[in-house]
Amino acid sequence: MKILVTGGLGFIGSHTVVELQNKGYEVVIIDNLSNSNLEVLEGIEKITGKKPFFELLDLKEKEAVENFFEKYTDIDGIIHFAASKAVNESIERPLMYYENNIHSLVYILQQMKKRGLQNFIFSSSCTVYGDPDTLPITEEAPIKPALSPYGNTKQIGEEIIRDTSNAHKIKSIALRYFNPIGAHPTGYIGELPKGVPQNLVPFVTQTAIGKRKELSIFGDDYDTPDGTAIRDYIHVVDLAQSHVVALERLLQNKNKEDFEIFNIGTGRGSSVMEIVKAFEKVNDIKLNYKITPRRAGDVPAVWADTTKAEKELGWKARLTMEDALKDAWNWEKKLKQKIK
Ligand code: WQD
Repeated sequence: MKILVTGGLGFIGSHTVVELQNKGYEVVIIDNLSNSNLEVLEGIEKITGKKPFFELLDLKEKEAVENFFEKYTDIDGIIHFAASKAVNESIERPLMYYENNIHSLVYILQQMKKRGLQNFIFSSSCTVYGDPDTLPITEEAPIKPALSPYGNTKQIGEEIIRDTSNAHKIKSIALRYFNPIGAHPTGYIGELPKGVPQNLVPFVTQTAIGKRKELSIFGDDYDTPDGTAIRDYIHVVDLAQSHVVALERLLQNKNKEDFEIFNIGTGRGSSVMEIVKAFEKVNDIKLNYKITPRRAGDVPAVWADTTKAEKELGWKARLTMEDALKDAWNWEKKLKQKIK
């Protein structure tokens, strides 16, 4: 079976390619290298011993997408990661986000419809829930007005897929990720944020390695046990494996509706301070940090109810936040060795 992974050189995409290859799938990666680099291909090959097919392609180029599907006529399933995903950047550059994230999705779906392709997995996000009324969050929780153009492209994306799946019988699943962290235990692939990391864990590891002076903890005055905000941090390998499970549900026609949605998290919340303390403990390292004012747009607490994924997909996160923090640190140290 041959699976197309768009954005397959990215953080979650690359880990998913590894899990697909481990299960014997042939993988074709499309990536435009706007937020990734070709070295990731070598990292994947070091782990699995197999080099995926790779096409340097920008999915916003409608003709290029058409040509791709002329060339690869034996695609059995598609996992679509390719998108811009920086919340703050999307607020400054909304049109780039709408053009990139929506056009790419539409052009892929148009090809699926044209060629009768089935089995589509979409990278969605817990950002669609905004600031939830109740916790933990189930898939039935109301969708709140998006807090950023990025989050809006995920909401709109889900609606585009729902309507397309219903009209053209394209079996689809949207996976709503919570907070992906960590790296592959081998240290050959991991998170490669460009510039100053927006996300917590890469900022933590870059502070620990000395690339950043100190971590700012954005607010300790939230209505949470230790005052810092709570998130559901999921190991990227667990998240990657959930994509293979979801894809196989479609390949084996086990889906109950044309379009299904699943929360992918651990079901457990951890505060920023708990992450910092766990990182120090598992890696036996002291972290420089200070408390600063809240970051605009942050919600106090978000974590997943994963009952549906457990019941319907038979999937549950197995790795812990501590495992992820150990693997994230191992990866940061390997990155430093590479630069030497
Ligand atoms: C986590 C917590 C910050 C940095 C992300 C993605 C979003 C979506 C969900 C994909 C918050 C705090 C952070 C720092 C800090 N994923 N923090 N100091 O905001 O939950 O959103 O996951 O769709 O796209 O951005 O993750 O890692 O930015 O923040 O105190 O230097 O850590 O305030 O409470 P977030 P994050």
